[in-house]
Amino acid sequence: MRIAVAGATGNVGRHVIESATARGHDILTLTRRAGYDLEKGTGLAGALDGVDAVIDVANVTTTSTRRSREFFTAVSSHLLAAERDAGVGHHVALSIVGIDGVDAAYDAGKLAQEALVTRGDVPFTLQRATQFHEFAEQIVRQLSLGRLTLVPKGLARPVAARDVGARLVELAEAGPAGRVRDLTGPREERLADMVRRMIAFDGVKRRVVEFPLPGRFGRATASGQLRGGADAQRGTIDFDAWLRSPDHTALRAGAGAATSA
Ligand SMILES: NC(=O)c1ccc[n+]([C@@H]2O[C@H](COP(=O)([O-])OP(=O)(O)OC[C@H]3O[C@@H](n4cnc5c(N)ncnc54)[C@H](OP(=O)(O)O)[C@@H]3O)[C@@H](O)[C@H]2O)c1
Repeated sequence: MRIAVAGATGNVGRHVIESATARGHDILTLTRRAGYDLEKGTGLAGALDGVDAVIDVANVTTTSTRRSREFFTAVSSHLLAAERDAGVGHHVALSIVGIDGVDAAYDAGKLAQEALVTRGDVPFTLQRATQFHEFAEQIVRQLSLGRLTLVPKGLARPVAARDVGARLVELAEAGPAGRVRDLTGPREERLADMVRRMIAFDGVKRRVVEFPLPGRFGRATASGQLRGGADAQRGTIDFDAWLRSPDHTALRAGAGAATSA
């Protein structure tokens, strides 16, 4: 199959490419470096001719409701219009488990994306997944000040981006299926415990302090709403196996073990 991938250089996009390559697909990467700006819609005219499926894992890192809606609405609208023009028969989108009713902050953009995909006229598959194990690295990189790391109070059932990437390729192969079963990780975790285990594993000295995120997004994170239900499909790689794998980029190594609050 010829598969176009939006967000090919990202956490999950890298694994989509690896899995699609291993399965012998012909891949078109819609990267900014190659001249495709999906938010502006540039480079897409004619680019999707002959493409069988588009996997969209493009992303913006933001906590702004406005910015998230703006990004995901623009990217989905441009991709879906280009797919319609080229006669692409399958759009595969990735969203987040448990976001119903959390129309705030980052999740507002994901709900806007879901609405465009599910109400549009390009046949689709919509996969929701839980937070990636890689989320623990993002927390440490973005919420550390000196030797202090702030971690949002939250319960998760994190999944490896590798499992998600492989699943998206299987879905692209299978053809349009609408909304499919949620994908979660194999084990339940507290975000702060994941971060503590990671910094201990990497030998970084940090004090970890949990704090409650404000608003609807914060309440959903703290309550465990984003973990998914018992009927979800489970990934195979748990957080500790991921830590030991090459998929984990070690934090800067330092002396000593972690302490925690
Ligand atoms: N992270 C999680 O825990 C999680 C959990 C569930 C679902 N998801 C979903 O998974 C998807 C991917 O997330 P991720 O964490 O893998 O993303 P990421 O690592 O932040 O990567 C973002 C990707 O989007 C591309 N991109 C950004 N702006 C672009 C633009 N204007 N035009 C073209 N490409 C652009 C980036 O390309 P450049 O190389 O050009 O920057 C990069 O490849 C998102 O839809 C997210 O909601 C994430």
